[in-house]
Amino acid sequence: MTPCRVIAMDGPAASGKSTVARLLADRLDFALVNSGAFYRAIAWVLLQESGHSGTSEEDTARKILESTNIEVVFEGRSARLSLNGQNPTPHLREPGVNAHVSVISQFPFVRNLLGDIFHSLAAERDCVVEGRDIGTCVFPDTPYKFYIDASPEERQRRRAAEGQTDRVAERDRRDSLRAVAPLTAAPDALRIDTTHLGIEEVLERALAHLAAAGVRPQGT
Ligand code: DC
Repeated sequence: MTPCRVIAMDGPAASGKSTVARLLADRLDFALVNSGAFYRAIAWVLLQESGHSGTSEEDTARKILESTNIEVVFEGRSARLSLNGQNPTPHLREPGVNAHVSVISQFPFVRNLLGDIFHSLAAERDCVVEGRDIGTCVFPDTPYKFYIDASPEERQRRRAAEGQTDRVAERDRRDSLRAVAPLTAAPDALRIDTTHLGIEEVLERALAHLAAAGVRPQGT
């Protein structure tokens, strides 16, 4: 049996990586794993279980998560978490989650827990996995890596246009400077700056790069 393929798609908030990841997964018929949504789901359940104050203590987070029923479910090609039978999706962009996710994503316990889940998903299916450290830490050996970027002004503009109050610059700064799995481009990733590119152009570049590496849409 051929091993499953992983396309790693990293980059800062609002760089366009989620859109490219989704379109690539559709074109290639791969599963889609938005790792940021998994971190957000964990932040959400920790807020719920700690009386909405959240926790800055890794030990407290570990205790809560050890007694949480964590499952992966698929909605079409997209994987998401189910936590104690609840679907966290409607809550993932709430301000409390925006603020707390950078804190809890630094806990090695959380990173290992989710890392194991990403690996078990990728053992079963070809996947596009998007995030911050997918090509550097989670799947360093995959030959298919992208780093999607855009200027800070353009990224803040995109979030505002979505009606969101997410302070991307501040979150990026924390994600980039942290000691554990900081946001950084893998040296072997193809970098695409989307500041002045339309989504079709970004997708065409990504597909051309993958085709050169032997990954093509079915039937082409
Ligand atoms: O992609 P996003 O903005 O929804 O991610 C939310 C947060 O999750 C981000 O601020 C840091 C964390 N994260 C991470 O630490 N590692 C990943 N691979 C993906 C996200």
